[in-house]
Amino acid sequence: MTENTSVVLARRPQGKPQPEDFQLSQSVLPTSLKPGQLLLKNHFISLDAGFRNWMDEGSGDAVLPAMAIDAPVMGLVLGQVEQTEHKQYTVGDWIMARLAWQQYSITDASDFLIKVPVDDGYPPNYFLGVLGDTGLSAYFGMLDIGKPSDGETVLVSAAGGAVGSIAGQIATLKGARAVGIAGGAAKCARLVAELGYAACIDHHGDVAAQLAEHCPEGVDVYFDNVGGPLLETVLDHIALGARIALCGAVATYGDPQPGPSNLFQLTTREARMEGFFAHTQVERYPAARAELAGWLEQGKIVAPEYRLHGIEQVGPAFCDLFAGRNFGKTVVEL
Ligand SMILES: NC(=O)c1ccc[n+]([C@@H]2O[C@H](COP(=O)([O-])OP(=O)(O)OC[C@H]3O[C@@H](n4cnc5c(N)ncnc54)[C@H](OP(=O)(O)O)[C@@H]3O)[C@@H](O)[C@H]2O)c1
Repeated sequence: MTENTSVVLARRPQGKPQPEDFQLSQSVLPTSLKPGQLLLKNHFISLDAGFRNWMDEGSGDAVLPAMAIDAPVMGLVLGQVEQTEHKQYTVGDWIMARLAWQQYSITDASDFLIKVPVDDGYPPNYFLGVLGDTGLSAYFGMLDIGKPSDGETVLVSAAGGAVGSIAGQIATLKGARAVGIAGGAAKCARLVAELGYAACIDHHGDVAAQLAEHCPEGVDVYFDNVGGPLLETVLDHIALGARIALCGAVATYGDPQPGPSNLFQLTTREARMEGFFAHTQVERYPAARAELAGWLEQGKIVAPEYRLHGIEQVGPAFCDLFAGRNFGKTVVEL
């Protein structure tokens, strides 16, 4: 009998998640698989702020149903096939999938599930970060929508997080001047020293004054991970012809807020604002990964990681995203 520890939703978070919203729960794995199933031993749990959106009552949509109380919390996991009754997968395959926060997962592969090419020589955890959904979100959002060019000013919010850390570096290697937004002087200093940002705006301070100082000609590209009042403030500082890539809105998850009151700025600045979702572009992952991997090999980008250890750290690590305690991609190694 194999015991399986899961992290369950103990109660619905009110606003920002708290460690007490999550609890550990034990179960026993079945002794055999049904035809078409595979058993994954999860090595890493990925913590992704967007999953907060399905923790509220009635929050289900086409991507996921609302998470149920006392049921394992859904997220992204990275594991290896331990047993298989599925023709397309063999024992030892590395899989990244949208499954629950558990030590072991049983799936019929109908979930969002990707076999990851770990034989390329990269650490498997890269397929949750720089070569996974967050790195690919940075890549698609920055290059398809932001389209930064030489000398332009590119502003990135949550600039030290999983997506933002890669988005800023891509802007820099395209010749733009990347300016980050992050919480606190210490994190801002790391953004400049470790990620190549030209400057950093502390969102705990006066953002409008710092925007005027660091983006005096206006913002050509805004890669937005935060939404809410920050987006409204930035809209007042966009340059003519600006592009705004709406990647996420972490400030509004569990705390819905009215939209910006100054959308007319898009008209007067002849700017465009566009959302995107990386998951719907899976067919583009191999080509995008190859380019990101090339930049890693050439030392043009780095992949910072905030790693905790043990299934009991999964709930707290998720909360860390909303308190800004992470730097880079947040994972828990099991
Ligand atoms: N479109 C897509 O396909 C896609 C895919 C993946 C992720 N996303 C989105 O990308 C964003 C980043 O997600 P992630 O999971 O990679 O998290 P992350 O950026 O690694 O961590 C979240 C960061 O957000 C900042 N933050 C949290 N609450 C904030 C607030 N109220 N105001 C300002 N900043 C705040 C914190 O940094 P500081 O406060 O220290 O700055 C924290 O480090 C999320 O909005 C997520 O939904 C979108």
